[in-house]
Amino acid sequence: MTYSELVKSRYSCRKFSDKPVDEAKLTAVIEAGISAPTAKNIQPVKIWVIKSPEALAKITSCAPFAWMKDVPVVLAVGGMKEGAFVRPSDGRNFADVDAVIVATHMMLAVEAEGLGTTWVGYFDAPKVKELFPAMKDYDLVALFPIGYPADDAMPADRHYLRKSMDEIVSVL
Ligand SMILES: Cc1cc2nc3c(=O)[nH]c(=O)nc-3n(C[C@H](O)[C@H](O)[C@H](O)COP(=O)(O)O)c2cc1C
Repeated sequence: MTYSELVKSRYSCRKFSDKPVDEAKLTAVIEAGISAPTAKNIQPVKIWVIKSPEALAKITSCAPFAWMKDVPVVLAVGGMKEGAFVRPSDGRNFADVDAVIVATHMMLAVEAEGLGTTWVGYFDAPKVKELFPAMKDYDLVALFPIGYPADDAMPADRHYLRKSMDEIVSVL
């Protein structure tokens, strides 16, 4: 599959089969995250692999999505501001940018591995940090519930709503 085919075939999958995720595929997804570029290569990021039944129950209690409840694994991604690159001209801290690039690499790797996921940003971050103290110093940018897409999984209608090139691109 070419890169163009990969990004076009990806969609937010919200229905999964109950088949467990192969460890090798999960490792490939995580390696894709670790391969991501970060500002000054500081890598101020963390990926948490949530897969024990107790931890899955905790993380899914922090998001309002019933479809997340039965996934075999959830990845959480966070960036730590302390130590991250700060742009001198305006003091902008790049920890969240770095974490989002790592997350995007992993989201696309999920597709490449024949798995499915949805980037979940709507969750109770303070509650996640309370339930998982290891995450407390991180800006949590994404949860990725991961599994094999169910046979009848399909994109939501919103998937097909894309702005035109004219609306998004300005040539200066
Ligand atoms: C930063 C971010 C946060 C998102 N948060 C959620 C979420 O909390 N719940 C959800 O169901 N989808 C979430 N999505 C998925 C978007 O709704 C989805 O990507 C968008 O509607 C386009 O559809 P597609 O991914 O199928 O192309 C999020 C996507 C991004 C990039």
